[in-house]
Amino acid sequence: MTKVIMDCDPGIDDAIALTVLLAHPEAADLIGVTTIGGNVQLYKVTKNAQKLLTFLGSNTKIAMGQSDPLVKEIETAGEIHGKTGMDGYQFPENSLEYPIVSDNAITFMNEEITNSDEKVNIVATGPLTNVALLLKTFPKVAEKIEHIYVMGGSIEQGNITLASEFNAYVDPEAAKIVFDSGLPITLSGLNLTENKAYLTMDEISQIKNLGKTGEMASAILDFYASAEREKGMTKIPVHDACAVLSLVAPELFTKSEKFNIEVSLTNDQFRGMTYPDRRVYAPDDKNIEVLEDVNREKFVQYIFDSIQSHNK
Ligand code: BDR
Ligand code: CA
Repeated sequence: MTKVIMDCDPGIDDAIALTVLLAHPEAADLIGVTTIGGNVQLYKVTKNAQKLLTFLGSNTKIAMGQSDPLVKEIETAGEIHGKTGMDGYQFPENSLEYPIVSDNAITFMNEEITNSDEKVNIVATGPLTNVALLLKTFPKVAEKIEHIYVMGGSIEQGNITLASEFNAYVDPEAAKIVFDSGLPITLSGLNLTENKAYLTMDEISQIKNLGKTGEMASAILDFYASAEREKGMTKIPVHDACAVLSLVAPELFTKSEKFNIEVSLTNDQFRGMTYPDRRVYAPDDKNIEVLEDVNREKFVQYIFDSIQSHNK
C-alpha cells in the first residue's frame, strides 16, 4: 500500500486536496498530516486540519510544523482563504478536541518514515519549510522517501509577483533545498493549476448536491471563488488537489520530461521564481517532472466522486 504524509497549510484548496486524498484509502494510506504556516498562521492551519479531519471522521495523526519560513518573514494569503484560513463553513465546535500528536513535524516525519516498513510518499501543498528541514536535519531519511508530490512554483506565470507562485515565494530557500535534493518530484505548478485544472462557478454550485461533505466543500469553495473573482479570476483553480491527484490518479495528467528546476533567491521581483533547466547540455541528474495538462472533464468528475464517497 502506498503510504503518504501530507504536509499542508489548509487553506481551502488544501482542504479539498485532503478531502480527495481521504476518499481513496485503496490508493493511498495517509499516515500523517503535518502543518506549515502559509495561507494563514501555523496555529490557524493546524486548527483547520483538526476541523477537517474531525468532519471527515479520520483518525490520521496530526503534527504541527514550522510557523515561519527558513529565512524570510512569513507572508500569508488570508484575503483568499479568509480570517480562519478556511472560511465559508461552520465546522463543529468539538473539532479542537482532535489530538495533535507532536509539535515537531520534523521529528514526527522522520520517525514515521524511518520506522515504516515501506518507503513513504510526501504530498506537499504549502511552503516547503518542513520538508526542507526534514531533509537537512535527517539526511538518511531520503533513502526511505519514495516520491514528493508538490504544489508549488510554475513554469509559466506567477501569482504573487509576475514570476513567483505563493508557496515558492513564501519560502524559496526551502523550495531550493527540496528541488535540489535529487529525490523524484512531481510538480503541480500554476502553469497547470491555474490554466488547466480549474472549476467553474457552476461546478462549485453542483458540489453542494453531493451530500454533507459536498455542502461543506461547496461552501468553502464558494468563499474562495468570491475572493478569487475579486482578484479578476474567472476560473477557480483548486491548486492543491492536483498534487494529491497526481499521486492517486496520475492517468489524468500529461507530464513533461524530467528537468532540474532552479529557484531564484534574489531579493527582487524574481524571488521565488522557479525555472526549468532546458539547456540541451543540462546535467543528467534531472529529478522533477512537471505536470503540463489534465483531462479536465475527468478531473472534475474525480473530485465530485471523491467528495460524494465520504457520505457513504
Ligand atoms: C498555493 O498557494 C496557496 O494559497 C494555495 O493553498 C496553494 O497551495 C497556490 O499558489
Ligand atoms: Ca496550500
